[in-house]
Amino acid sequence: NKRIKIKELLATAAQGQQVTVMGWVRTFRNNQFVALNDGSTNNNLQVVIELGKYDDAFLKRITTSASLKVTGILVESLGKGQSVEVKAEEVEILGDSDAETYPLQPKKHSLEFLREKAHLRFRTNTFSSVFRVRHSLAFAVHKFFNDKGFFYLHTPIVTASDAEGAGEMFRVSTLPFDNPPRKEDGSVDFSEDFFGRATNLTVSGQLEGELGATALGQIYTFGPTFRAENSNTARHLAEFWMIEPEAAFYDLEDNAALAEEFIQYIIRYAMENNGDDLEFLRQRLLDEEKGKPQTERSELDLIQKLQFVVENKFERITYTEAIDILLQSNHYKKKKFQYDVKWGIDMQSEHERYLVEKHFKKPVIVTDYPKEIKAFYMRQNEDGKTVAAMDILAPGIGEIVGGSQREERYDKLVERMKEMHVPAEELWWYLDTRRFGTVPHAGFGLGFERMVQFVTGMGNIRDVIPFPRTPKNAEF
Ligand code: 4AD
Ligand code: MG
Repeated sequence: NKRIKIKELLATAAQGQQVTVMGWVRTFRNNQFVALNDGSTNNNLQVVIELGKYDDAFLKRITTSASLKVTGILVESLGKGQSVEVKAEEVEILGDSDAETYPLQPKKHSLEFLREKAHLRFRTNTFSSVFRVRHSLAFAVHKFFNDKGFFYLHTPIVTASDAEGAGEMFRVSTLPFDNPPRKEDGSVDFSEDFFGRATNLTVSGQLEGELGATALGQIYTFGPTFRAENSNTARHLAEFWMIEPEAAFYDLEDNAALAEEFIQYIIRYAMENNGDDLEFLRQRLLDEEKGKPQTERSELDLIQKLQFVVENKFERITYTEAIDILLQSNHYKKKKFQYDVKWGIDMQSEHERYLVEKHFKKPVIVTDYPKEIKAFYMRQNEDGKTVAAMDILAPGIGEIVGGSQREERYDKLVERMKEMHVPAEELWWYLDTRRFGTVPHAGFGLGFERMVQFVTGMGNIRDVIPFPRTPKNAEF
């Protein structure tokens, strides 16, 4: 007997047919009704067991999360909310699940509790939906860039460079921790390390991506990225996935247009392919909001919010305009910002969220930031003060994209690296792109988990990655 997945069965199979399904028990009522789930959808399949056919000892083994193989006839269901059910002819228990020790109950658990049981949280509707949506978004990323003629470039995970110059790297080393070889001045001697030098986990594939883009024309990376920033927030992970397109002959304007089209495309893809999951997550959020006073509830539900974002152009403003808006806001006048606002600050998340949530109420592309707060590789503007940077801010999230047009002028780049104490001699290979046929080019990085948060409406970034890595947490 060929197995059919529950999603497919509910969508296509005809009544009267014999089917075989396999899955895990969600609930078992009255020694008769099994709600079976196989991960293909949150819609459980009702399996009806004939009364008296099995003895008590067997029925007792049909517990939450036990796995079953069921063969039976598909019939019309009289139950609410389901069109069909399976009248079981044969029930086989593939794996028992001890009801006494199984950590999850067939009830609603808090997300905090489920984070402690992260190895089993896949078996809940919420996490199944989140990870199916995550899958679709990842697939859509590749589809979008492939259709646009961008090549998927694999950049290294272990590297010797600090692409962002922020010093937030995890060291990779084969030297003994307790007593590493030392140089005469007492510093660790990395010449004896595996690679013969100090290495770390990548913070961004951009610099290598630029090598690809200045040959293949248009590339993108999509891989894990590591940052040892000690930010214990709902938006930061120590290990996250980033998508970094890089395109030759692109200026900042082209870059912004690409980012907007890309974001709208992958959201639309999830809406078209994960309707059930998004509907489930929409409902979950509505339930969560029921406890809140009317004024704190959002005006749009999850799906309306996504619809709005794919149908409307993003707002575009410069950093200078953003600061002016903040300074003129009542929020500022009433001293409601925790951090001060003035030209030159690195905007805090409260500022970014004011702009997108209170002022514009839509995603905003902010360009032309002060050069002091941005990375060495960004192209300097004529004003001598700003660089051709671009951040995209999203409602409920804050910064979701960081990007820029790159400094393609060799002299200016080297000068900036000196000013910022970026070791030019170590990045000689990067500088070669500017020495041999340099071209205007631009790119950006989208934080994949922040994107998944936006689409699923999940409040904490730990709940949109299967195995979150955060300070003091790497258990599973
Ligand atoms: O703004 P960032 O640091 O930019 C870069 O790394 C550039 N090299 C990208 C480029 O131009 N190719 O990071 C880009 C995005 C952020 O906007 C954010 O969405 C995400 O990566 N991000 C994080 N996501 C989760 N946890 C963290 N600790 C993150 N740090 C950055
Ligand atoms: Mg950034």
